[in-house]
Amino acid sequence: MIVLGIETTCDETAASVVALQRDGRGHILSNEILSQIEEHAPYGGVVPEIAARAHVTALDGLISRAMARAQVSFKDLDGIAAAAGPGLIGGVIVGLTTGKTLALVTDKPFLAVNHLEAHALSPRLTDGVDFPYLLLLASGGHSQLLAVRGVDDYVRLGTTIDDAIGEAFDKTAKMLGLPYPGGPSVEREAERGNPERFALPRPMLGRAGADFSLSGLKTAVRIEAERIAPLTNTDIADLCAGFQAAVTDVVVDRTRAALRLFRTSIGTPNALVVAGGVAANMTLRRALQRLASESGLNLVAPPLALCTDNGAMIAWAGIERLRLGLVDPLDTPPKPRWPLMAKLSDLPDTATPETAA
Ligand code: KG4
Ligand code: ZN
Repeated sequence: MIVLGIETTCDETAASVVALQRDGRGHILSNEILSQIEEHAPYGGVVPEIAARAHVTALDGLISRAMARAQVSFKDLDGIAAAAGPGLIGGVIVGLTTGKTLALVTDKPFLAVNHLEAHALSPRLTDGVDFPYLLLLASGGHSQLLAVRGVDDYVRLGTTIDDAIGEAFDKTAKMLGLPYPGGPSVEREAERGNPERFALPRPMLGRAGADFSLSGLKTAVRIEAERIAPLTNTDIADLCAGFQAAVTDVVVDRTRAALRLFRTSIGTPNALVVAGGVAANMTLRRALQRLASESGLNLVAPPLALCTDNGAMIAWAGIERLRLGLVDPLDTPPKPRWPLMAKLSDLPDTATPETAA
């Protein structure tokens, strides 16, 4: 089974061809990606209109390259998958319409993939992880703790109630005058900073449930920065180190709480998985590694290129859906908002987060 995957929901244009092997593992035949970071950098964030136009310009060339690198032709494909959301509507329309058109003219099954589902299933492509597992999805737009029980079977154990984790990194960087995207800049500064100089809050630590909140932390960084302005390089490094340490403490505490909820309401997880762009952060990874070890679990983190947005995860989610017969009609609409899963409290016969914690 061979599927083409198309990703255009944010600021990466991507196309990839993935094959399902006999042993049930995925094999990435090609994985083409074009980042628009430089086009958005002057604005300090993604500009939806610029993103949509850049997808239009780049996508057909990327698909041709992905097909050529994979050495397959359209008639070799078993399906065509495109991310149908959630994301920026202009970009989603570009990828979705392209995918549908290719499916129509080649008469192949079409798969409208939820971008979050693609992140959620990516560790099965990279590491062959079996269901169920606990997923920490930490990107610029999404921060969720999900029980992944099967394809189309996700339970949200926790989520941010304000900023996404990557968004908090991006906003903190912007506030401190560091370049976009903020995550890598903050991590770089933090390397030479003192994480203990500023007493920053750890919102929601130890609370019932597994939700988290980051906007108060971001505000605390701003207040400290204003208090000691003008900032020296050392000040910036110390603020970044303090912020990163606080985010890590919050995320690890909330992930630990989600593991407890998992065990009381879902069963025994096969792994702790971290995905999304923030999974690139080494301080966070090391802390999650410690949490996984103390919980007797493997920490699975897809390689960086497959943690951040990419086409291979869309193709793989397409394969997972296609082999279950979950094909989509060609009038599937773009879905800028598209929540993935039931909340824990929506499940029949399970405890609510409050009572389970
Ligand atoms: O998954 P992704 O590529 O795109 C989506 O948001 O879907 O994630 C991008 C986010 C950005 O907010 C970026 O600042 C953050 O991931 N990020 C990081 C690091 N590298 C990327 N955050 C913290 N530390 C990093 N090293
Ligand atoms: Zn993403």
